[in-house]
Amino acid sequence: MALEKVRDLLASARRANTSVIAFDACDYNTVYACVKGAEMARRPVIVMLYPTMRSLFSFSAFSGAVKDLAREASVPVGLHLDHCSEPDVILSAIRDGFTSVMADGSALPFEENAAFTKSVVDMAGVFGADVEGELGHVGQTAAGYDYDNKDAFTRPEEAAVFVERTGVTSLAVAFGSCHGVYKSAPSLDLERLREIDRTVNIPLVLHGGSGIPAGQLEKAFTMGINKFNVGTEFFLLNSRLTHEYHTGHYVEKPFADLEYIRSGLCEYVAGKLRLCALRV
Ligand code: 13P
Repeated sequence: MALEKVRDLLASARRANTSVIAFDACDYNTVYACVKGAEMARRPVIVMLYPTMRSLFSFSAFSGAVKDLAREASVPVGLHLDHCSEPDVILSAIRDGFTSVMADGSALPFEENAAFTKSVVDMAGVFGADVEGELGHVGQTAAGYDYDNKDAFTRPEEAAVFVERTGVTSLAVAFGSCHGVYKSAPSLDLERLREIDRTVNIPLVLHGGSGIPAGQLEKAFTMGINKFNVGTEFFLLNSRLTHEYHTGHYVEKPFADLEYIRSGLCEYVAGKLRLCALRV
């Protein structure tokens, strides 16, 4: 199968009242596990790269790896550039093969965020690339972000204006989640999500997916969330499997480490993807 457009994956999820799951990846093993895990679970998947990670895996090499695996895959695979606030970097990712990008202006005041996001939508449109915006701010636990602070949550009435003005494909919204390891289980403001979903008619995105209890996710997926982002959990598992292999599971056999690490990552991805009700 060729790479799928993210907008088409999100539209299918919206029709089925569920969410596609998007994983941040950082190397070939994590990219490989996203696609092979998706095949195991018979679910679509989106593979994402943080722009800062391009020092480890260049944009063209990353997009090439995802496209190669997608071509051979029996399930739909999408490719997306995660959080990026620099138009030049977004443009170079698109030139290097990314078909979907996030324009993250969520740290800016409303007007500036809308202007920045619209400029990225106009530029990406020339290449036919999809754009995810963010309104409200989903912070980082590592930076001490208070994820219960409703001041940073998305306001439904602003979301409608933002979507209308920018023309984004999808919108990341803040309603109680946070990037990184939660200090205590989050309590998502699902009523707010419902309100946002009533005011905008495009797919909504939930960031900060690591550690959100499954019961809350299942509800959010039927209340407007059509893209769900996971990173930290997956990266930590990758480190743990590497450590485990070298400390307790080492065998003197070429590539045994690859088999061990990849199989643990694939099982994790497949398990997570089963939260998505879209079986393909
Ligand atoms: P976590 O790293 O908290 O899972 O969040 C990932 C994310 O939202 C990427 O955009």
